[in-house]
Amino acid sequence: MTRHFLNLSDAGADALKAILGDAVARKAARQGLPKGRPDADAPLAGHVLAMVFEKNSTRTRVSFDVAMRQLGGSAVILEAGSTQLGRGETIADTARVLSRMADAIMLRTDDHAKVEELAHYATVPVINGLTDLSHPCQIVADLQTVIERGKPLAGLEWAWLGDGNNVLNSIVEAAGLAGFNLRIGVPEGYDSDPGFIARAQAAGSTIRVTRDAAEAVAGADVVVTDTWVSMGQAHAEEKLAAMEPFQVNGALMAKAASDAVFLHCLPAHRGEEVTDEVIDGAQSAVWDEAENRIHAQKAILRWAFGQI
Ligand code: CP
Ligand code: NVA
Repeated sequence: MTRHFLNLSDAGADALKAILGDAVARKAARQGLPKGRPDADAPLAGHVLAMVFEKNSTRTRVSFDVAMRQLGGSAVILEAGSTQLGRGETIADTARVLSRMADAIMLRTDDHAKVEELAHYATVPVINGLTDLSHPCQIVADLQTVIERGKPLAGLEWAWLGDGNNVLNSIVEAAGLAGFNLRIGVPEGYDSDPGFIARAQAAGSTIRVTRDAAEAVAGADVVVTDTWVSMGQAHAEEKLAAMEPFQVNGALMAKAASDAVFLHCLPAHRGEEVTDEVIDGAQSAVWDEAENRIHAQKAILRWAFGQI
């Protein structure tokens, strides 16, 4: 069976744990090395990853490219608009062709159904590099960052503030798989996918939605937010106004546990969802979180190739 990584549950709880262990161990093993130098065992030597971007990216693009180099392989980056996909070649035919030319495919796109269709027709692993529905690779890096800060995931209290978006859906999914709880502070009308919440609750996690930012963050071990306007969404004044009470600023952060970690997948919109004092403050782990995209993706790739 070809291993696709479209959501965290494609791997499941045990594999997610193994992926995180691999990411932490391989990161530790190559401290101080130039970033493009392959790991000593070069476990994906000769492998090629094709990446297709239908949306902008800085971190996902660079971290997958560097991840493949460190694993001994290489990456080909395709901007969808300059490919035949941009002129109407079907996803199915693109999947068939890229499967003959590359050993794995990553897609960043809007409609989640596109990544599912790609996986359906591909004969090599397909990885979701962000859709409107979810961003699983990001959350593996987030989990790694929390573990590195000395917080075992099971039983933690996470707080989400802001928009009910793709990043939140994958955090909810992670809660169910890794056994942590989540309070979601989201204004009415901007809720996240109820299916992800129901599945995490069925797995035993406590997931609560509140319209009160202070209630969401009270005593939390991890505080996380993201842009109020995701790629492809309208920059509506009405939405920004509704989000304002959910800004992660010093006063709100002070209501979390005193050793709480602040996460943001980036890019940040300073002065909107987060203030400088928080993102640049001592509790912020955002730069480790960004670096961990490399280490997390190496482990995801190794899982996709059956090495984990
Ligand atoms: N966090 C994240 O996915 O960043 P990019 O959009 O820059 O890839
Ligand atoms: N929610 C954001 C994440 C960017 C990495 C978006 O989809 O634009």
